Amino acid sequence: MPYVGAMGLFPYASRYPVVREFPEHGRPRHEIVAEIEAMSAAEDAVALEGKISGSIYSGDHDHYAFLNEVFGHYSHANVLQRDVYPSATRFEGEIIAMTADLMHAPEPCGVITSGGTESLMNPLLVYREWGRERGITRPNVVLPVTAHPAFDKGAHYFGIELRKAAVTDRYVADIDSVRALVDENTVALVGSAGTYPHGLIDPIDALSALALEHGINLHVDGCLGGFILGWAEALAVPAPVFDFRLPGVTSISADTHKYGFGLKGSSVLLYRTPELRRHQYFIVPDWPGGLYTSPGMSGSRSGGIIAAAWAAMVSLGREGYLAIAADIFGTAARLRSIIGEHPELRVLGDPLFNVAFAAADDLAEEDRIDIFHVNDSLASKQWRMNGLQLPPAVHFCITRPNTMPGVIDRFAADLHEAIGYARERRGTAPRSGATYGAGGVTVPREMVEAGMAGWLDATQSLPPPPP
Ligand SMILES: Cc1ncc(COP(=O)(O)O)c(C=O)c1O
Repeated sequence: MPYVGAMGLFPYASRYPVVREFPEHGRPRHEIVAEIEAMSAAEDAVALEGKISGSIYSGDHDHYAFLNEVFGHYSHANVLQRDVYPSATRFEGEIIAMTADLMHAPEPCGVITSGGTESLMNPLLVYREWGRERGITRPNVVLPVTAHPAFDKGAHYFGIELRKAAVTDRYVADIDSVRALVDENTVALVGSAGTYPHGLIDPIDALSALALEHGINLHVDGCLGGFILGWAEALAVPAPVFDFRLPGVTSISADTHKYGFGLKGSSVLLYRTPELRRHQYFIVPDWPGGLYTSPGMSGSRSGGIIAAAWAAMVSLGREGYLAIAADIFGTAARLRSIIGEHPELRVLGDPLFNVAFAAADDLAEEDRIDIFHVNDSLASKQWRMNGLQLPPAVHFCITRPNTMPGVIDRFAADLHEAIGYARERRGTAPRSGATYGAGGVTVPREMVEAGMAGWLDATQSLPPPPP
């Protein structure tokens, strides 16, 4: 299968000269900046209208300007050089302490990573090493099918078996299914708060009890939800406890570059104990380059990203986060009720901030619609939902730009039209969701992999030369 829409990757090929080899001479800075300004302004425009699901978490350009100012002071600083840049140690310690406070950790113990993926891969490594100490040579980790693919990536890199548990008809981890997969080689369980597909909180209390029963670890993936669901209790939004107050929880990840409103490239990974954290340190004592120590996967890291994450947190404070979270929870509740007005649709589970919806499956055959037709119509009005599969659905992950006045009203009107469009298009193939099993048609795995590998090749390439 050829890669899909690869030319869409290169909209600038016709506007600017394509750099195909190292330029002999430098270009004037003002020209470069003008080019950057034109591209970024055009690309940000849709996001700022509030029509994008997830991705742009703050969208406040005044906030970004402040973070960029902070970033500028440390963009060149290497956090590895602790003696030259002791401020980085201050920022990291304080970011970890603030996050630990929000997550009710027994002590501030964690690491800063480059993002959610690294914050999910590190605990896999830690729990593999934890298992090795106990003589487990073929470790497995049990997690629901809805857990983020970064776990698959980590398990692939580190030689860990992943055992995928089913979810219930409310789309959260089915604890009986998890229990049935645990054996003497299980080093950890995983639950999410909330899941990427449906924004739901797995039954962390039951997972915690199961982890304690077996004397194993439990990672809570709060990469997406940590910095939003963490405020629910204070706002009287009914979310179950998912943090260190549950005694079986041994680590939690929460991304400062999502609802933490920092710049892209930072996340916090908390451990219950310093002993666990030590398993992820990497030390080479006898290298000719000197004694090498690093707390995680990265070598050199920019002090700018860490300073900006710290600045975001201390500039907003609890008060600032609570105000934004209240708007996000309120908008998501409104979105749920808008979807609920349409008998052709159903909301998946009981979401608080990231609302997934599918076509209702309890209607007569002739009344059913295809959710990807709904998505096609919304996309034609610049709404960018995220397509899901198994079951076919889309989600709208509410972030700050979506809470702007008028945005959700516009969505309600466009959704109404989209349902009319989907009714008219019954029996035809939708444009969106093609590789995700649109309308229940499953694309063979080899085709998806071949097609997606072609897509990835294209993202790392130049546009084809003009004929
Ligand atoms: C629940 C969850 N975990 C982990 C990640 C991975 O985060 P990142 O893209 O920062 O690596 C995401 C990303 O959306 C997520 O939603």
